[in-house]
Amino acid sequence: MRIVLVGPPGAGKGTQAALLAKTLSIPHVSTGDLFRANISQGTELGLAAKSIMESGKLVPDEVTIGMAKDRLAQPDAAGGFLLDGFPRNVAQAAALDEILAEWGIELDGVLDLEVPEDEVVRRIAGRRVCRNDNAHIFHVEYHPPVAEGVCDECGGQLYQRADDAEDKVRVRLEVYHTETEPIIEYYQKQDLVTTISALGTVDEVTRRAIEALRKND
Ligand code: AP5
Ligand code: ZN
Repeated sequence: MRIVLVGPPGAGKGTQAALLAKTLSIPHVSTGDLFRANISQGTELGLAAKSIMESGKLVPDEVTIGMAKDRLAQPDAAGGFLLDGFPRNVAQAAALDEILAEWGIELDGVLDLEVPEDEVVRRIAGRRVCRNDNAHIFHVEYHPPVAEGVCDECGGQLYQRADDAEDKVRVRLEVYHTETEPIIEYYQKQDLVTTISALGTVDEVTRRAIEALRKND
């Protein structure tokens, strides 16, 4: 299955993507995680992305599209993938369509996670992520680790992302409304979009997501 996950910052895309990817046996491809891995490895790409990400704005398309294409070209993505955080504007969506057309494949569905803004702000304010693996995501209130500051999955140190500061979250929400939301309409024209509520427990949202994705199968 080839799926795109869309939703505002803090909607729970990373949380759901990790669980759904396991259930569907496809890789979770997150451009945010790829950028963060490049930053911690000190690569040239990481250096180019760091200050832009910390400001809450989007990394330029030419950098992002190339990175996403390279990742999707890897053998583990040949049988399907779950894209999280890409595409993030209409130009990226059009580029993805071109890449997939070149490879003779197409998307099966776009899952749109809907969450009210006040809940998104609460989720981001309490988020803590693992230094070893960005896919290990916690929340101080909703999903606290057993030992404070320590990842349950791998023992790594938990930290708060620099772009989770309140003023950066405002920028990210603005960018989401102006640049990312239009991709929902773009994909609606291709009849690919299913919108689900991302309110409720993580398990409830996963159940809703799987049910929605079955319709695309
Ligand atoms: P990215 O890493 O993609 O961030 P984002 O889209 O802002 O999404 P988040 O990671 O903030 O949230 P999420 O929806 O994954 O929520 P999570 O599961 O963590 O991008 C970061 C930056 O990278 C961008 O700003 C940009 O600069 C750059 N970038 C990335 N892709 C790009 C692209 N394509 N083009 C250009 N630039 C790009 O959950 C949030 C919290 O809520 C957690 O604490 C979690 O435990 C909790 N939670 C989750 N589900 C629930 C639930 N059901 N109930 C209660 N709490 C919950
Ligand atoms: Zn961890």
